[in-house]
Amino acid sequence: MQSSLDRRPRQQGLHAAIIMDGNGRWASARGLPRGAGHRAGVKTIQRVAEVAPDLGIGTLTLYAFSSDNWRRPAEEVGGLMRLLRAYLRGETERLARTGTRLSVIGRRDRLPAGIPEAIARAEAATAAGDRLHLRIAVDYSSRDAILAAAARLGPEGLSREGLSGALGADGDVDLLIRTGGEKRLSDFLLWEAAYAELHFTDRMWPDFGTADLATAIADFSARDRRFGGLNVAAVPEAA
Ligand code: FPP
Repeated sequence: MQSSLDRRPRQQGLHAAIIMDGNGRWASARGLPRGAGHRAGVKTIQRVAEVAPDLGIGTLTLYAFSSDNWRRPAEEVGGLMRLLRAYLRGETERLARTGTRLSVIGRRDRLPAGIPEAIARAEAATAAGDRLHLRIAVDYSSRDAILAAAARLGPEGLSREGLSGALGADGDVDLLIRTGGEKRLSDFLLWEAAYAELHFTDRMWPDFGTADLATAIADFSARDRRFGGLNVAAVPEAA
């Protein structure tokens, strides 16, 4: 079994995950409808995905729509689904051209007609991308994903590696960022982020820029990651 001290992301580069919070407040502060905040949030996704590989990120997982977000007003939910559809339609070609492999995690059976097919098309068209693995979480609940993965494996198949595989985890999360000033995990990647370093920023997602991502990475790089063990330099040699 892999020891807790040699845990490393499987792919090249860091696995960063972002809870993209603050779109609504960003819009309200400008007297705009919440949908304008989500539209601005999509531009931030484009910006961040473009620079992420240059900052050492190999996998980027973004929380776009939680399973609890269905409780929002139908108009807002509909707007988010339209944005997702437009993103898939408008971005796939650019993602493929820039070596970005797109995956969507979460349930697909409750998404509006046509979206699961659009996701499958975008995933197929970008499958060869090896510069960045961009994972977007839609109708996602980490608790539900863990339960479903465990049920698929059955008691005999359960192991740490087995569950990570069944979750399609693509390596543990190294750095988990939340924008918008709140400090909670909101049912996001609870298994995969077991040893993630956490970075919280007051910046609203539409305002989150390259410099903010670079700050988060620098903050991460300064952390002493011990994975439950001791810092090797701090352990006295055996007598
Ligand atoms: C949280 O802000 C953000 C969301 C619930 C949605 C995030 C979605 C996007 C960035 C755009 C859609 C994504 C794609 C891939 C098309 P909030 O609305 O909870 O903000 P608030 O806390 O200020 O109200």
